[in-house]
Amino acid sequence: MKAVFYNRYGSPDVLEVGELEKPKINETEILVRAHASSVNPVDWKIRMGGLKILTGNKFPKGLGGDIAGKVVEVGEGVTGFAVGNEVFGKISGFKGNAYAEYVVAKPEDLAQKPENLNFNEAATIPLAALTAYQALVTRGELTKGSKVLINGCSGGVGHFGVQIAKALGANVTGVCSTKNVALAKELGADKVIDYTKNNVTDKKEKYDLFFDVVANQSYGKIKPILKKKGKYVTTLPGVGVILNSITGLFSSKKASMINVKSNPQDLQLITEMIENGKVRPIIDKIYPLEDVREAHRYSETGRVVGKLALSIK
Ligand SMILES: NC(=O)c1ccc[n+]([C@@H]2O[C@H](COP(=O)([O-])OP(=O)(O)OC[C@H]3O[C@@H](n4cnc5c(N)ncnc54)[C@H](OP(=O)(O)O)[C@@H]3O)[C@@H](O)[C@H]2O)c1
Repeated sequence: MKAVFYNRYGSPDVLEVGELEKPKINETEILVRAHASSVNPVDWKIRMGGLKILTGNKFPKGLGGDIAGKVVEVGEGVTGFAVGNEVFGKISGFKGNAYAEYVVAKPEDLAQKPENLNFNEAATIPLAALTAYQALVTRGELTKGSKVLINGCSGGVGHFGVQIAKALGANVTGVCSTKNVALAKELGADKVIDYTKNNVTDKKEKYDLFFDVVANQSYGKIKPILKKKGKYVTTLPGVGVILNSITGLFSSKKASMINVKSNPQDLQLITEMIENGKVRPIIDKIYPLEDVREAHRYSETGRVVGKLALSIK
């Protein structure tokens, strides 16, 4: 089968597209003929060797966590999925090999693909939208009327965050650069702060929840703009957040990190929001799998608007 692999950690140039053996499933697994994947920053962090402690030094390695495709084989012990189902989901990025024609998934990694999305669109959803949902709802306990700020609201996680928070009835302030202000408003943000003109922590506004996907300021600077029982949730924890989880036990304000997990119930809720027209993926570019190096180079700029899809023919 056609797949992306690499034989050493390094720049995008270490990525190769070639033939690998088609994987086999056991009785608890599902084999998906993938039609698309998507690029998430964690993919290039892994490729660079930044998570070596988790990914080890055994090569060749595959890459990628997001998949969208058709079920072609179902293990005997699996229920809820059948050959021919169109599915999407997220496999473990650390063992990841979703940039491939055939991908082995566990039933809990997958859900039926939203009917109103094609495979490229569907593949951009799982990791980024699950991160946003779990940060806002599971960690951040966002409810109707919550006042939430999303720092980094135009990228993969942030643009889903704005839409999910609005769908759940929150009041949303998004933070992005000038070129993305119009998009943030279009996605539903009630207010947008252009970080090239204003510093969010200089403002007098206070928030129930500060969701941070950029982590360009310390928790110490952000804490004063949280309401009394306000929460700070980040995808990129610094020392302040780690210390707060130990020393902040008696503080009414809480800081925590999100570590996205496969969760079929969460994916199903996201699917409903997509099918109800409340959430849609913004796709900056679609690359054929063969152009994976280019896709990584672009993702590494940190300037992607929405998501990048990898199309697998
Ligand atoms: N812990 C987890 O489970 C988890 C899960 C998912 C992602 N992550 C991490 O979270 C980060 C974000 O992921 P992503 O997929 O959303 O990345 P992305 O698609 O590259 O988006 C990054 C966003 O950050 C914005 N940005 C850059 N500098 C900014 C600043 N000073 N203030 C406000 N916004 C700024 C950019 O917007 P402009 O172009 O307008 O500047 C861009 O929209 C990555 O580091 C990723 O690895 C962690």
